[in-house]
Amino acid sequence: MSVRELKKDIYSVGAIDWNRMIFDELIHLPEGTSYNSYLVTGSERTALIDTVYPPRKKELINNLRKSGVKKIDYIISNHAEQDHSGAIPDILKLFPESRVVTNAKCKGMLVDLLMISGDKFITINDGETLSLGNKTLEFIFAPWVHWPETMFTYLKEDKVLFTCDFLGSHLATSDLFATDETKVRILAKRYYAEIMMPFRPSIKKHLERIKSLDVKMIGPSHGPVYDNPAFILEAQQEWVADEVNNLVVIPYVSMYGSTEKMVHCLVDALIERGIKVKIFNMTNADVGDLAMSLVDAATVVFASPTVLSGPHPGVVYAAFLTSALRPKFRYASMIGSYSWGGKMVEVIKGLLGNLNAEFIAPVTVKGLPREGDCQSINKLADTIKEKHMAIGAKD
Ligand code: FEO
Repeated sequence: MSVRELKKDIYSVGAIDWNRMIFDELIHLPEGTSYNSYLVTGSERTALIDTVYPPRKKELINNLRKSGVKKIDYIISNHAEQDHSGAIPDILKLFPESRVVTNAKCKGMLVDLLMISGDKFITINDGETLSLGNKTLEFIFAPWVHWPETMFTYLKEDKVLFTCDFLGSHLATSDLFATDETKVRILAKRYYAEIMMPFRPSIKKHLERIKSLDVKMIGPSHGPVYDNPAFILEAQQEWVADEVNNLVVIPYVSMYGSTEKMVHCLVDALIERGIKVKIFNMTNADVGDLAMSLVDAATVVFASPTVLSGPHPGVVYAAFLTSALRPKFRYASMIGSYSWGGKMVEVIKGLLGNLNAEFIAPVTVKGLPREGDCQSINKLADTIKEKHMAIGAKD
């Protein structure tokens, strides 16, 4: 990566990770990612906003050398997760006079995670400002976007908001700015689904706070910079809104074809009733795609055969993930097949117990589904249609 100017005296100095395939050993990265770090040169002092993932620290250090910066007075840490904080100890070695500026909670985490000495910190409060001379940084606490210590940094004179993970996208690109908005929107939605969706209520609150600021540019810590902030703020507003789409998501596994037959019966019935459907075979589904579908769906129907008296582990994984991501869907149900009994429905219902979704009566079948079973699935589709109409699910 090279040093690139966002605005006068504001530079992008982080690293593009073109080849990273997986994040947190969980999230697939179809388009790689970047770790954005921003250098802000004021008339009197200089600040570095966030750093990079430790394996890419050489790029950050090379970029700082290329920039010609002679001293960094402040290292602003918006978030303690190591993909942004991990190179702070290296920057402190290069610039020993530098101080890490962050909130008290983040300081505690950085001491625990990176063993940074407590005397290296300046602790700030929500709304506090820090002068770089002709530029002023304002700190805006944004807890639970997505950790308890997360915060934003607002560069007042230039009206640039640095949001760290919030509004980011896992996208390795040579574009400094989000010029390909169609592509960035998809990857930002994927990012929201995988990382931010469980925190929807607090994100709503922070979006309102951002609206009260005059923001001309947004610098997240993953993916391109937004020189048209309205584009990403409007998209984010849509994802966190309470409204749901006329869409049913069906995560499923089938071992001998019975459950698959039920799934296709339900898919046909829903399509005939004008309802959109997305199905995910959990033996090979991309969980990022599943998470993205859950952002908008009104209903989720889990479909499983019976394994050792419960649902198939692939469907258990889908239900566990759904419960953890806390999407806004209103209705859930289950279809599936068994040979001699089992507690499939109880297990899936139990996994979804933390959500506010209404559980619609399931359809379970002994062995292969017969004509009458398809009629029961048609009735389930009728119920889903009625419910979607009642809440005004969007087409
Ligand atoms: Fe990109 Fe929460 O770290």
